[in-house]
Amino acid sequence: MSSRRTASEAFEKVPTVVFTTSSEAAAALAREVRELIEQKNAKGRPAVLGMATGSTPVPFYRELIRLHKEEGLSFKNVHTFNLDEYYGLEPTHPESYARFMADQLFDHIDIPKENIHIPSGTVPGDRVFAHCRDYEDSIDKLGGVDLQILGIGRTGHIGFNEPGSSRDSLTRRITLDRITRQDAAADFRGEQNVPHFAITMGVGTILRARKLVLMAWGENKAGIVAKAVEGEVTDAISASFLQEHSDARFFLDTGAASELTRLKLPWLVGPVSWTPQETQRAVCWQSARLGRPVLKLVDEDYNENGLSDLLSEQGPAYQLNIRIFNRLQHTITGWPGGKPDADDTYRPERAQPFPKRVLVFSPEPQDALIAIGGTIDRLREQGHTVKLVALTSGSLRVPDAAADNFASTLLELSMTDSKPAQWAEQKSYSQSLLNIITEKGEFGEDPPVLRRLKALILRGELRDAAASVGLSSKEITFMDLPFYEAGRYRRFKTSKADADAVHACIKDFRPHQIYVTGDAADPSSVPSLTYKLIREALANCSKDDWIGACTMWLYRSKEKALEPHEIDMSLPLSPAQLDRKRRAMSCFQSLSSLEQNMPITNQNTAKLYDSLGLAEYEAMEAFQRARAGA
Ligand code: F6R
Repeated sequence: MSSRRTASEAFEKVPTVVFTTSSEAAAALAREVRELIEQKNAKGRPAVLGMATGSTPVPFYRELIRLHKEEGLSFKNVHTFNLDEYYGLEPTHPESYARFMADQLFDHIDIPKENIHIPSGTVPGDRVFAHCRDYEDSIDKLGGVDLQILGIGRTGHIGFNEPGSSRDSLTRRITLDRITRQDAAADFRGEQNVPHFAITMGVGTILRARKLVLMAWGENKAGIVAKAVEGEVTDAISASFLQEHSDARFFLDTGAASELTRLKLPWLVGPVSWTPQETQRAVCWQSARLGRPVLKLVDEDYNENGLSDLLSEQGPAYQLNIRIFNRLQHTITGWPGGKPDADDTYRPERAQPFPKRVLVFSPEPQDALIAIGGTIDRLREQGHTVKLVALTSGSLRVPDAAADNFASTLLELSMTDSKPAQWAEQKSYSQSLLNIITEKGEFGEDPPVLRRLKALILRGELRDAAASVGLSSKEITFMDLPFYEAGRYRRFKTSKADADAVHACIKDFRPHQIYVTGDAADPSSVPSLTYKLIREALANCSKDDWIGACTMWLYRSKEKALEPHEIDMSLPLSPAQLDRKRRAMSCFQSLSSLEQNMPITNQNTAKLYDSLGLAEYEAMEAFQRARAGA
């Protein structure tokens, strides 16, 4: 794919290639790496690659391994320099970048060990400066980095160059930003366990590479990517410095590109085919920009804001406004399962059949309740059969403290009971659990019994939370999908066993309605992986008689909220319902700050509807319609 600038990319200050999926992008980059290695090796020179860690490069590393195993690509004459390492972690620590690189790439290719360079996380404090200087020197001795691979953090960091890193900064020890530590919290089972420091190549070090490719996937990254690509060069966003490099490119999937002007406001960069959705997007954008409700927009507004072709095609403004207003109005319903005995024509969901069998998929136990607890409440209240399916155990999120609490309480109970002999087994069991927690230490991997206990703790939290929206434990299914049990965050890999389990779950229940999330998420995330499993399972049900009548509603868990033109159904929540939802959320002790913000997201959706000129509600849960059939 070419990265030459076109008119539609006028706002972009660095060449940016948008791929349909992350796998396509990863494959394209792997092909470039292959050419680079072959060209350099043909000249008898080693290729020098700059490597990144995190979830983003995982599909790229899988493709490199495939090229090695299936197509004979050799890494014998390749040298690598990693961007960074957590300071304080041994190379054997499960979350160290040394271990990550071994697991994800180096152990599967023929690169000589001595060609691998990763900053040390354990160099003593008084040697850090010299270590960093040596790291710079060894890059220079090999003639510099030929191609540097980069990801981007939500702070806009490249490597771990957090906001404030200067254009000329070199390899050094830095303090991690709060947002970066929050993003790593699930990996380390709690923010409190995430190291505070890291050693990272500097912005200046990175920019010395001859070529740079920054990859980003999923809507979570869309906002920061747009700032880095279209905004000013600033040390507040270190990725923006790529604009100053003569051979830097961004490789994005459509989710990560979704805030770029060419995708978000395409009429500003060229002719647009005015589909109903695109029309709604333009009208809502204009209303928000002018701070005026849809019904008060006038012809001049359209003409003066680059929408004269829309006006000439679908105007006058008065009629266009009414059409869009009605469309928005029709998305609002208090009846997510359809309203019995009502005219369906303008309702998002049909009345029949009634009651419906509704399947709500939650990637991790907490996701669905947090995102659409109000809808679940309403569906159940209106008589539908709701089955909430927690696809994975979520045990990796549960902090040691929760397991410690449980074991300590059990131990205390066993000692305070009047018949201690009867409690002997519980006593030794709780003691052995406490020993396991102490022995494995803060960062050690959880043995199976501890993971099991953590999963059960989360089950209990989900049961409590579900009860506050009226769901009994009989209505909850825990699937504990195997990919989650065998993996770690940012590098999970699903298999046939996962696909079969999801398929069986859907086939048995024969749902009339499915609620699901993950379509726009980072492809390595649990919501995205489970979304793919569900789509695959539905494709396998495509010949079943029930599938044609099954509707599917997408919700957003942690990604950016749906925008008005993407919303097909919007469920208003009263202040009391929002409070119930907050109470449900408070049952989960392991929530990240992103999830805790969900009620605010729901309130923002309501404010948006209000500002467009629709009724003013306290909060709204929003959905996009998707096809259940393949
Ligand atoms: C890691 C690194 C970081 C990550 C960034 C995104 O070596 O350099 O800049 O690329 O934090 O992380 P993921 O890919 O996990 O979203």
